[in-house]
Amino acid sequence: EPQWVLMATGRSPTNIAVIKYWGKRDETLILPVNDSISVTLDPDHLSATTTVAASPSFPSDRMWLNGKEIALSGGRFQSCLREIRKRARDVEDEKKGIKIKKEDWEKLHVHIASYNNFPTAAGLASSAAGLACLVFTLGKLMNVNEDYGELSSIARQGSGSACRSIYGGFVKWCMGKNDDGSDSMAVQLADESHWDDLVIIIAVVSSKQKETSSTSGMRDTVETSPLLQYRAQTVVPSRILKMEDAIKNRDFESFARLTCADSNQFHAVCLDTSPPIFYMNDTSHRIISLVEKWNHSEGTPQVAYTFDAGPNAVLIARNRKTATLLLQRLLYTFPPQKNDLDSYMLGDKSILSD
Ligand code: PMV
Repeated sequence: EPQWVLMATGRSPTNIAVIKYWGKRDETLILPVNDSISVTLDPDHLSATTTVAASPSFPSDRMWLNGKEIALSGGRFQSCLREIRKRARDVEDEKKGIKIKKEDWEKLHVHIASYNNFPTAAGLASSAAGLACLVFTLGKLMNVNEDYGELSSIARQGSGSACRSIYGGFVKWCMGKNDDGSDSMAVQLADESHWDDLVIIIAVVSSKQKETSSTSGMRDTVETSPLLQYRAQTVVPSRILKMEDAIKNRDFESFARLTCADSNQFHAVCLDTSPPIFYMNDTSHRIISLVEKWNHSEGTPQVAYTFDAGPNAVLIARNRKTATLLLQRLLYTFPPQKNDLDSYMLGDKSILSD
């Protein structure tokens, strides 16, 4: 039998939620208890690049993450691979003399190599970019015909937040009503050019891996927090509508107030969990105070902050000028130590030299 390798490569950025997803109503299908909204970052800074290859000479499916082999069996990567494989279609590459029938994909094994262009150890959400990229790239390789909504629904089954990274710009993950998850997928609210004044700065507070994974954290919150119900049923639905308006009208004041309030409520829900979950630390709290004081003294918000399942701050400045000021204030308040230099270099160097 002739030997050949068919390959596809893709790149997906990570996304940062401004209205948070926290809590699953179905753990297997990954169905959330509320809608969420995020901003997809620009791929030059925080993204995953994945190459997938298929060949009759591969005896099994294998995967490497940043050059290190990881187990595929039973994991989140496997669910995405299974779902894409189900939808594979005929592939023909005349130049290479490759002809794959859709039923061949069941027997054909794949090798997957994924890299993050930022240190995984920095504790920054990497699963969103990684799973979205895997689904997208496998889809290309296997010639699937599904639209972005469907792909996002598949990425969701790898990692909830990954469903939002299928699109650029501002994205809403609609929780859906169906028990089978068929209507739980992301939609794009506005593309990446809609509000390009915004500048996102990520302050790496700790590069340690988080102590409580989002999976077990969410489970504990769903089981024990009385506040979660109130958040999911009463607070988030109206916040989602207000956030959609703020984005549509590029209304930074509302955008910032909603973003900060929602981050704080997410961490309040974590604290309301038994045993309590602490994702932020003293430095995170100092960053919140710095931003709150600044916004208060200006009378109108200049910067929004949001924190995920870890202590690192995601700061959204209303424009480039504010971003430069913000960097100066951060560097003044938290003078850099020698080995921090790498982290600065991760960011937009042109802002530093402004
Ligand atoms: O998709 P997961 O399981 O990594 O959970 C993400 C949860 C948060 O980042 C805290 C919030 C969000 O909406 O992204």
